[in-house]
Amino acid sequence: MKTTLKTTALLLVILLVSIACTQKRELAMPSIELTTDFLIPHPVKVTATNSSFPLDQYTAITTSMEEGFDDVGLFLAEKIIATTSLDLQVNPASMKDIETVINIHLKSDFETDNLEAYELDIRENEIMLHAASAAGAFRGIQTIRQLIPEQSNDNLADYSIWTIPSGEITDAPQFKYRSAMLDVARHFFSVEDVKKYIDVLSYYKMNNLHLHLTDDQGWRIEIKSWPKLTEIGGKTAVGGDQGGFYTQEDYTEIVNYAARRHINIVPEVDMPGHTNAASLSYPILDGTGKKLKPYEGIDVGFSTFDCRKDTVYAFIDDVVREISALTPGPYFHIGGDESHTTTKDDFNYFVNRVSKIVEKHGKQMIGWDEVVHADVGENAIVQYWNKKENAQKGVEKGMQVILSPGQRAYLDMKYDENSKHGLTWAGYIPVDVGYNWSPETFAKIPLESILGIEAPLWSETITNLDELSYLAFPRVIGYAELGWSIEQNRNWDDYRTRLANQAPYLRKEGIKYYPSKLIDWKE
Ligand code: ACM
Repeated sequence: MKTTLKTTALLLVILLVSIACTQKRELAMPSIELTTDFLIPHPVKVTATNSSFPLDQYTAITTSMEEGFDDVGLFLAEKIIATTSLDLQVNPASMKDIETVINIHLKSDFETDNLEAYELDIRENEIMLHAASAAGAFRGIQTIRQLIPEQSNDNLADYSIWTIPSGEITDAPQFKYRSAMLDVARHFFSVEDVKKYIDVLSYYKMNNLHLHLTDDQGWRIEIKSWPKLTEIGGKTAVGGDQGGFYTQEDYTEIVNYAARRHINIVPEVDMPGHTNAASLSYPILDGTGKKLKPYEGIDVGFSTFDCRKDTVYAFIDDVVREISALTPGPYFHIGGDESHTTTKDDFNYFVNRVSKIVEKHGKQMIGWDEVVHADVGENAIVQYWNKKENAQKGVEKGMQVILSPGQRAYLDMKYDENSKHGLTWAGYIPVDVGYNWSPETFAKIPLESILGIEAPLWSETITNLDELSYLAFPRVIGYAELGWSIEQNRNWDDYRTRLANQAPYLRKEGIKYYPSKLIDWKE
C-alpha cells in the first residue's frame, strides 16, 4: 500500500513536471501573415503560411561548420540581444531547454549560381535559412532581422515572445555589385562614422563601399613609402575645415569591420587630375607647372600629374602596392574623372600605364567613365556617372559597367530648393526620383554588362555623420533595392510604405534621416 502511494505520488510529480515543461510547446502560435511590409530590398518571392515562429528565451541558433557560417550565427545573436535583450546561444553544446531553433546552413544545389542566394523557411518551431555561401547567409539574416517585430507579445506566456510570421522566402540579388561611395577627401570622416555607415548599408544588403580617398583638398590614407602625402596632403579640407587621414591600421580596421558584414572596400586614388594634395606633398608629381598651394575650394579640373615622368609611375606603383596589400577585395579605383588640364594623349597614356600597375598588383581596375577613351582592356570596369556614350563605349570594349548616373544616383544632390546640404549641378533628386528609374534600361546597357549600381556621396557640403545621414538617408536605401530587387518587384507606391516602416530602425541606429514629406514615416 505504502509503495503504491509512493508510486502514485511520484507519477503525479512526473505528470506535473511534464505539464510544466510542455506548457510552452502547447502555445498556439498566433496566425500572422508574412508580408513584405518591413522588407527592403524586396525579395524575389514571398509565400505566407499563416502561423508564426516564437523567438524567445528558448530559442537557439545553429549553423553549419563551413567557413564563416558560425560568425553569421554569432552576428545574428548580437543583433537579437541588442533589439530584444534575448541572449540566444549559438551552436550550444547541449539542446536541453531549447525548444525552437534558427538553423543557418549551407546549401550547394541552388538553381542559381549566385553566391548571395538564400532561402528562408519559417515554421512554428524552426527557422531554416539555407544559403549558397556565408555571404548569402549574411544577407538572409538581414531578412530575419527585418521580420522581428519591434515589440514582444507577452500575452502568450509569462515571458516575452517576439512572434515572427511564418512562410517561405526565396531570394537572390539581381546585380553582383551594390554599393555606396563616400568621399572622405573633401571632408574627412572618422573610422567610427564609416563603421556606422557600413552597419546600415549592410542591413539593406549592399556589398561594397567605395572610399574616395584622395582629391585636390586632401590625401586621406597613410602610404609608408611616401609619408608626406598625409603629413602635408592630409592636413586640409574644404572650407578650411579640419583634415585627417586613416593610418594603415585604421584602414585595416575599416576593411575588417566591413568584411564581417560581407562588404568589400573599394579604395580610390583619383588621378591624374584631382591630385593637388598629392603634388603639394611631392611637387615632383605635378604636371601643371604652376605654383602649388593648399586647396580648400570646391572647383575641379585644375590639377594633373606629369603623365610623362617615370617617377610618377614609381610613385603610383608604391601607392597601389601598399593599398592593395591592405585590401582583400578584387577592385582598385583609379578615378580618371575631370582631368581637364591633362592633354588627351597624356590622359590615354596615363590610364594605360596605370591599368597595368593595377593589374600587376592583382586588382581589377575601376575608372570613372572618361577612362573608356584610353586603351583599357575588357577586364577593366567603367563607372558611368556623366556620359551614357562613355558607358556604351565601355560595353563595346567588353567592359562591365557600374551605374551611378548623376541625375539619379548622386546622394550629394539636394532633395529640393529647401535642402540644408548638397549641390545642384545634376538637378534636385527627391526621394521618389532617386528610386523611380531602372538601372536595367536607363543607359541602354545590356543586362549582362551591368555589374551593378553605386550611389556616390561627395562631401563638399557635409562635415559629420548627421550631415552625411541627411543626404544619404533615406535615398541610399532605395539604391540598395535597385541593386538587389528585380524590376517586377519594384514599385514606388509599395516602396514608400515599406520605407515608412524603416523609421524605427533608423532612429534606433541614431541615423538622422531627411524626413521627406513624400513618406508617411512610422512613429
Ligand atoms: C565625379 O562626380 N566627378 C565622378
